[in-house]
Amino acid sequence: MIRSRIIGTGQYLPEKILTNHDLAKLMDTSDEWIRQRTGIAQRHVAEEGEGASALGYPAAKRALEAAGVDPGEVDFIICCTTTPDYLFPATACLIQEMLGCRRAAACDVSAACSGFVYGLATADAFIRAGLYKTVLVVGAERQANRLNWKRRETAVLFGDGAGAVLLRAEEGERGVLKTYLGADGRHADILIMLTGGSRKPFEDTTQEEEQLAIHMDGQDLFKRAVGAFGLAVHKTLEGSGVSVDDLDLFVPHQANTRIVYTAAERLGLPAEKVFMNIEKVGNTTAASVPLALDEAVRQGCLKEGDNLMLAAFGAGLTWGGALVRW
Ligand code: ACO
Repeated sequence: MIRSRIIGTGQYLPEKILTNHDLAKLMDTSDEWIRQRTGIAQRHVAEEGEGASALGYPAAKRALEAAGVDPGEVDFIICCTTTPDYLFPATACLIQEMLGCRRAAACDVSAACSGFVYGLATADAFIRAGLYKTVLVVGAERQANRLNWKRRETAVLFGDGAGAVLLRAEEGERGVLKTYLGADGRHADILIMLTGGSRKPFEDTTQEEEQLAIHMDGQDLFKRAVGAFGLAVHKTLEGSGVSVDDLDLFVPHQANTRIVYTAAERLGLPAEKVFMNIEKVGNTTAASVPLALDEAVRQGCLKEGDNLMLAAFGAGLTWGGALVRW
């Protein structure tokens, strides 16, 4: 059977770091409040003028290098982002040009924090259908210049960064075993960026407070996120022959430490099987899963044959999971 095996991973974090203490000088917040409620201690922030492609490119390049694959071998590039460089063209096209992947098709996938899992499932479907052999999936987010720094309830949560995986069609038992995706547009309004799109474009008259304003119902989201992580994992495992007890590592979207550990506890997953890096990078939206996965790989947390579960939840609402035999 043809499977999509992850043959390389990579990440990129901008050099500049903003700690909770730095934020406490800019707004009425504290290291204690942010750490207790979210698990975040710091986040990386890109330079002025850098878009998502400037972060996604080095992450993708490292994934190609880790796999020892030439850019010319890539058939398809999927970039998962909520912060594209431009409304069009797709950020994936900019990354294609930077990498020199001349043969590759390229497009973006938008599913907020679930974006990478959606991108991975799309790539896997193309590979299993026999259409493409080598697919690059990049999660890249440039959140910091889109945040309203006057809104402490959202400004403290997000960070910039990118992660990438290279998938290759292979015969055998290793690779993506199963994916599952879900969405519920009835709750689109509980996490939404209201301005800057076609319904409400930025105008000179738009109040500063209204611009770049992410509306978030934090408590509602918290409850739904815990439920959605559980659903994503159970649905992904369904019919796979792998149980929760068989999982060796869980790499979730780094939304918030409390959300993830509450979900893991309900699933019966011990904390030592849960990989977290939110403390150092914050919530990097669609980049969060591949960034954490690359970190787990670097730390030697995965060995051949391990059962890996990736899961995410985000605006939309959207959620999903991917079961991978490493
Ligand atoms: N610093 C200090 N105080 C703050 C801050 C801040 N950054 N933000 C809000 N507060 C204040 C509020 O104004 C409020 O004050 P009040 O009691 O005087 O009214 C108080 O802290 C408590 O606010 P709550 O919103 O009730 O705080 P809560 O305990 O719910 O924590 C949080 C807020 C962290 C957002 C929580 O609801 C949460 O984790 N929700 C999940 C949302 C999430 O993770 N979003 C990430 C993006 S979504 C995703 O990735 C899927």
